[in-house]
Amino acid sequence: MTKEELRDKLIAEAWEGQKNSYSPYSKFPVGAAVMGADGVIYRGCNIENVSYGLTVCGERNAIFNMVMHGCQTYTALAVVCNGSADAAPCGACRQVMGEFCESLDTPVYICGGEGNLLETTVGELMPYPFLKFDPAKE
Ligand code: THU
Repeated sequence: MTKEELRDKLIAEAWEGQKNSYSPYSKFPVGAAVMGADGVIYRGCNIENVSYGLTVCGERNAIFNMVMHGCQTYTALAVVCNGSADAAPCGACRQVMGEFCESLDTPVYICGGEGNLLETTVGELMPYPFLKFDPAKE
């Protein structure tokens, strides 16, 4: 699979993940997908709660889905949302993304419902990171 094919596949999987979003409070459904180093794609969606602060974002749920299935590294991540907004990962998600990425160059695709696509990396989203590995040696 080329990098572009993987990107398009991951974005399609993230849209599938969005279908399971539980977001009655924000009405902002998010879907996400990661390509595991085991070759399996894992999906996630945001899951909210009436106690609002218990919400978990789509990106973290996709990564935790991967870890719960025995894979601790992803090689690319996609996140999608509706409308013109970008589902730019929140700070908590960026920290978790840093924990399990293959490297700081791991691609991240942020996609809006109007076809807008931002192609970035974990490292760009997370300058001066606090990580389990030393970014200076990467
Ligand atoms: N949310 C995500 O799932 N990912 C993002 O990248 C941004 C925000 C969720 C959290 C909450 O359920 C809703 O979007 C509105 O903030």
